[in-house]
Amino acid sequence: MTVSSPAPAAAPSPTSSDEIVVEVKDMTAGYLPGINIINSANLVARKGELIGIIGPNGAGKSTLLKSIFGLVKVRGGDITLNGESIVGLKADKLVHRGVAFVPQNNNVFPSLSIEENLQMGLFQNPKAYAERLEFVTGIFAELGKRLKQRAGSLSGGERQMVAMSRALMMNPSVLLLDEPSAGLSPVRQDDAFIRVSDINKAGVTTIMVEQNARRCLQICDRGYVLDQGRDAHQGTGRELLNDPQVIGLYLGTLGDEAH
Ligand SMILES: Nc1ncnc2c1ncn2[C@@H]1O[C@H](COP(=O)(O)OP(=O)(O)OP(=O)(O)O)[C@@H](O)[C@H]1O
Ligand SMILES: [Mg+2]
Repeated sequence: MTVSSPAPAAAPSPTSSDEIVVEVKDMTAGYLPGINIINSANLVARKGELIGIIGPNGAGKSTLLKSIFGLVKVRGGDITLNGESIVGLKADKLVHRGVAFVPQNNNVFPSLSIEENLQMGLFQNPKAYAERLEFVTGIFAELGKRLKQRAGSLSGGERQMVAMSRALMMNPSVLLLDEPSAGLSPVRQDDAFIRVSDINKAGVTTIMVEQNARRCLQICDRGYVLDQGRDAHQGTGRELLNDPQVIGLYLGTLGDEAH
């Protein structure tokens, strides 16, 4: 963060707040009896933050997001949303409380048009369609011009945009994104990260899992390295990019010099 002097007159940052929106506390979760995939993991997302989660394949990154969204059984610890426990709540209840989730795979309805996909995202509040469509096409302008196109005929990057747009239709306060840049060409990846930043700057607290660790840490406010189901490292994106241990184990080369 840069500090200018003298300080500008009362210009509140849209992205900084002490208010904790999502907190994962010593959380343990898994699929099969006796096998914990998440082992005492901790994470905090404050209002307006963009949080990045990186880590090796199989570390449990997707499982962590799915646990927050009620899709994996939580066996211990707690997850809170605005201070209230959400453990045991199913996805529909969480959507109602302002949480949206874009999974890693199969995140659009391929046989439906873009428009129908967006309408599916709004099933709990269909009256808001026009207003929400205006918001999402403000971020994803190209989708607005192709509303009748079948989602199955879109490229990977375009599908990713539809998936994020669908999640945004409910006007979520928290967005959980699993690998928004996966499978995209480098140019499309850059675009995906810019869109995630735009969504976050519009005020949506965002928790993003990413394979592209360096790019993720470059744009996030704070990041977590998940390893074997545990938050092994945490810090600001810049701190993690420059942490020799994180570089050695998870980034491969010197943090800031590559991109
Ligand atoms: N539905 C499931 N049933 C049983 N085990 C599962 C299931 N889904 C995932 N796992 C196991 O949980 C572990 C963590 O998987 P997860 O998908 O959370 O990892 P990840 O960090 O997201 O990996 P990647 O970077 O490859 O996406 C893996 O060992 C995986 O085999
Ligand atoms: Mg995953």
